[in-house]
Amino acid sequence: MKTNKFYITTPIYYVNDRPHIGHAYTTVAADVVARYWRKQIGEKNVFFLTGTDEHGKKIADAAEAKGTTPQAFADEVAQDFADVWQTLNISHNKFIRTTDDEHKRRVRIAFERLKAAKTPKGNDAIYEGEYSGRYCTGCEKFITDKEIENGRCPLHPNKELEEIKEKNYFFRLTDYLDTIRKKIESDELRILPAKRKAEVLGLLKQDLQDFSVSRESVKWGIPLPFDENQVSYVWVEALMNYITGVGFGEDEAQFEKFWPADAHFMAQEIAKFHAIYWPALLMALGIELPKAEFIHGFFTIDGQKMSKSIGNVIDPRDVVARYGTDATRYLLLSQFSFGSEADVQAERFDDLYQADLGNKLGNLVMRVTTLLEKHNGGAVAAVDVPAAWRVDADAIAALYRDYNIDHVLRAVFKNVEQLNKQLDDAKPWAGVKEEATKSAAIAVLSQAVIALREIADYIEPFMPATAKKLREQLAEPLKKGDPLFPRLEK
Ligand code: MSP
Repeated sequence: MKTNKFYITTPIYYVNDRPHIGHAYTTVAADVVARYWRKQIGEKNVFFLTGTDEHGKKIADAAEAKGTTPQAFADEVAQDFADVWQTLNISHNKFIRTTDDEHKRRVRIAFERLKAAKTPKGNDAIYEGEYSGRYCTGCEKFITDKEIENGRCPLHPNKELEEIKEKNYFFRLTDYLDTIRKKIESDELRILPAKRKAEVLGLLKQDLQDFSVSRESVKWGIPLPFDENQVSYVWVEALMNYITGVGFGEDEAQFEKFWPADAHFMAQEIAKFHAIYWPALLMALGIELPKAEFIHGFFTIDGQKMSKSIGNVIDPRDVVARYGTDATRYLLLSQFSFGSEADVQAERFDDLYQADLGNKLGNLVMRVTTLLEKHNGGAVAAVDVPAAWRVDADAIAALYRDYNIDHVLRAVFKNVEQLNKQLDDAKPWAGVKEEATKSAAIAVLSQAVIALREIADYIEPFMPATAKKLREQLAEPLKKGDPLFPRLEK
């Protein structure tokens, strides 16, 4: 088992939508984990992949509606995603686009291999058949009779389903299901959190069918190497980005170094593709399975699904404009538990910013630096910090291993609260004024500084620029700096 590298991915986002805080949520979360691991095992050993999903009917239709070509349409929106990630200080190592030549070539190599593959039961993994069924372009998938509600897809009730009858190549999923179930049950493939693992095992009990891996009537896609009249089903080549993005088929050294992925991050609406279809495809390709998939909740805005028609889509750039990059990252990740569904209440952002960042952290730093600058020439006394004041590094490491990143944030901020309480009890601002109590007051303030320097390390993956400022402000001699989190404009 490779332990000296870490490879993490986000879903590749569809370019028919503009980047919003739903996409930002997953991407910031993955960024935090990537940054954490870079500190543990070195920059070169971490690979963080994100990107855009640009083929398929849904994108072709969206481009047509705009009167442009799919490629021009995708170019513009992919750039928009890249820009937003820059605004949010996302540190991905690669931004993959499924229209990249490299991806297309590697997908075709994978298809050649699939075509030659035998299932564990000795059948051809790929076989020709005819599909007739109803297709939801919004989900880019066939909808089963069981799923249909009022003749429509439950996730896209405003869209007509398409009746499709065409020749397709099928993937013999059913021959792999037993093995997948065992691997998930035994945590050889960890599905996290536990609740999602149970959901996926529940899906595996349903009557899952072989699925089609190609489309005949769709033109905007990657032609199959063994039948140029068919393009890859968009989900299949999209999932393959996780291997093509690290060299599959061409750059064996890179692939060998980073695969298997340590974690795929996503929300639960695409869990079936990732936790069932993807492992089966990998098995057919003779490739190791990812080690973990972390499936977080889908959040709503003020109780409603984020959607263009409702008009409640939040652009991450607007959030950054008000709160700054680091605070936006904090506000996104601290709102709720990473694995659960939740409602985002944007009107609480102001309060959270003020309470957690401004008051708890910002004021604490301001207080200790101001007092030590004024009463001790900016020097920090050599003191021990009580263990109870410090963040427990092992506990944090364990939280990261389970991708419990909101718990990391909570643990660190609990520490900040403790420091505040310690100061409130010891009242060094009074102590520094009397000769008899001054050295005890300086000692307490110094303990706070030393503890805060450590806190800067823990905060860094979440708020990289703040961590840097913290370190600068806490370097000797201390000087009162600008507030870390300035007051918001009304
Ligand atoms: N293109 C596919 C993914 C292919 S991956 C091989 C796709 N794209 S998407 O643009 O719809 O992105 C879905 C993902 O965006 C979710 O799984 C989640 O990571 C993120 N989110 C989008 N909206 C979200 C919320 N409202 N809440 C939480 N995450 C959200 O599906």
